[in-house]
Amino acid sequence: MTNQELNELIRNRRSIYPPEFINKPISKELLETILTNGTYAPNYKKTEPWRFKVLQGDPKTQLGLFLSNAYKGSTPEDKFLEKKYLKIQEKANKSSAVIALCMQRDPQERLEEWEELAAVAMAVQNMWLTATQHGIGAYWGSPKAIKKADKILPLAEGEKCLGFLFLGYVEDAKRPAKRLPLEERVVWMS
Ligand SMILES: Cc1cc2nc3c(=O)[nH]c(=O)nc-3n(C[C@H](O)[C@H](O)[C@H](O)COP(=O)(O)O)c2cc1C
Repeated sequence: MTNQELNELIRNRRSIYPPEFINKPISKELLETILTNGTYAPNYKKTEPWRFKVLQGDPKTQLGLFLSNAYKGSTPEDKFLEKKYLKIQEKANKSSAVIALCMQRDPQERLEEWEELAAVAMAVQNMWLTATQHGIGAYWGSPKAIKKADKILPLAEGEKCLGFLFLGYVEDAKRPAKRLPLEERVVWMS
């Protein structure tokens, strides 16, 4: 990969949502590559705090139902929209795979929680970039319902769900993103 290709991959990674996903399965081999690249993220004290759960088939359908029912349960009847309820279910149904993004807190709390959350987020970026390179669209969803994720995911003591990475092939996964100019976010101190 050239320097320019690397820059393009990073700058063209986007959040791409399930309505755009095409009906094409992601092979187990490629999912393993995506997950393996995730695990190469830096992590303080080598706790490897990421815990990933790959949902396909029935568990993925159950996730869609769980998320849409959470919306139903938290919305007053007069505000409830059947269309939105079905749209939430479709997120899981239209994805070829959904990766539950979980973080296992160090049992001895040798490091701060944010350091472990950051390590998982870095793993997610590795996975997201790998997906993009393979023509797979992805987005990180963090609905409020993740607080009750233990209802559908096996979570160990001290393990938290940080959201879901919805994955599916798209016609074109690389699209330019807009960001503020450097001077709005960077201070050079010399
Ligand atoms: C920790 C985290 C949580 C996110 N949660 C959501 C979410 O719940 N719903 C959503 O639509 N996008 C979510 N996103 C995606 C962001 O909205 C998206 O990355 C941002 O708009 C920038 O767009 P881009 O990814 O195309 O560059 C999340 C991103 C991160 C890093």
